[in-house]
Amino acid sequence: MAATVTATLASQRQLFEGVFEDEPVFDVHPEIEGPQDVASVQDGSPEQVDSDANTAKYNENGYVEVEPAKFVDSYKPPAIDGDFRDKHIVTVEQFARDDLRVLFEVASTLKKRIRSGDRGVVEIATGQVLALLFFESSTRTDMSFQAAMLRLGGKVIGASNGIQFSSVYKGEDLPDTVRAAGCYADVIALRHPRVGASYLAAHYLDLLAEKIGRRSVVLSAGDGVGEHPTQALLDLFTILESKGTVDGLAITMVGDLKHGRTVHSLAKLLATYGACGTEVNFVSPVSLKMPTAIVQRLHEANISVQETEDLDEVVGSSDVIYWTRVQEERFDERAEYDQVKEGFIMTPSVMRRARGEAILMHPLPRKHEMGGPRDHDLLDADPRSVYFQQMENGMLVRMALLAKILKGVHI
Ligand code: NCD
Repeated sequence: MAATVTATLASQRQLFEGVFEDEPVFDVHPEIEGPQDVASVQDGSPEQVDSDANTAKYNENGYVEVEPAKFVDSYKPPAIDGDFRDKHIVTVEQFARDDLRVLFEVASTLKKRIRSGDRGVVEIATGQVLALLFFESSTRTDMSFQAAMLRLGGKVIGASNGIQFSSVYKGEDLPDTVRAAGCYADVIALRHPRVGASYLAAHYLDLLAEKIGRRSVVLSAGDGVGEHPTQALLDLFTILESKGTVDGLAITMVGDLKHGRTVHSLAKLLATYGACGTEVNFVSPVSLKMPTAIVQRLHEANISVQETEDLDEVVGSSDVIYWTRVQEERFDERAEYDQVKEGFIMTPSVMRRARGEAILMHPLPRKHEMGGPRDHDLLDADPRSVYFQQMENGMLVRMALLAKILKGVHI
């Protein structure tokens, strides 16, 4: 069994560590030994899921799992194409420029209305329910989704004591956990350590809708090292709010571009947005480069891309500096992380070399890649830092998305 457990499940294992001190999680289903249960897991989706037993995995709880990454190929996310109603959101590629314009108009209006104390927006999601399924840690995405739904007048549910106290602990698989949430909620925000988890969720929620005659949709809140679409939406909104356009800008993304799902989504979103005369610089250690498929995607969109290990080449000419954390939890070996973790540290002295009108972004949380507490304070005081605006915009953009998806309303 151990041989079939993949290294990528390490972060899922962390979910349980230290929680059940007297109950080793590996003993929950010791009787399951072979791949004989694969067929039953795959029942209900024969055409979508490869029936090859070798593609199923046993997780730390001993249950057979369908590989979420396969759904990235088999599930075709619907393009928004002017109509957000009841659509799953799993990738930024679903949004065309016009869809983004509409979404951001709503987010801007909501910003004004909320800041002026307007309570009218509480009608928008009255009687509707958002379920949070977070299999990985989160502060901003989790709370901003909650705040967004509550401010629209909706309600929020989640497993009472966190997902680790749900039936996931008993060995329930993701398709069933997602469909349980789908039976109770209108919309589900899902964060999961595996690439493709939200695609899998979308597929199984579509099957559920056929079964029960009511539709629930999933919004990806981060799929492992894959994408984080709603973060990219708030990032692009923040860039547009600060700079008025992305056309002609030099946008520099720095740090762990290999594992960083926020930069994956932002880069793809710039490509789908159709930026004109925009330059994108990727600055990272060689081992943490942006995946080539994403670089290729930018080339296809006629965005010029420069990849470098030398921040000095680009920091003085950048309009947007998007800093990222080295994603410690994604490394298989601690030594590999230690080798690269000090590669790029943002400090006030680095910002002294940046343009006066540049903006400094970060999806947060931040650690040593933004220096120590003193550096944090000085960077926060720099008017060019916009990461607190990003945080607030996260709630507003998620409100706009929920409003459009649940009600289709233009505010
Ligand atoms: C990011 C994430 O979870 O990918 N955080 C966030 O959602 N704001 C970035 C990170 O964890 O480094």
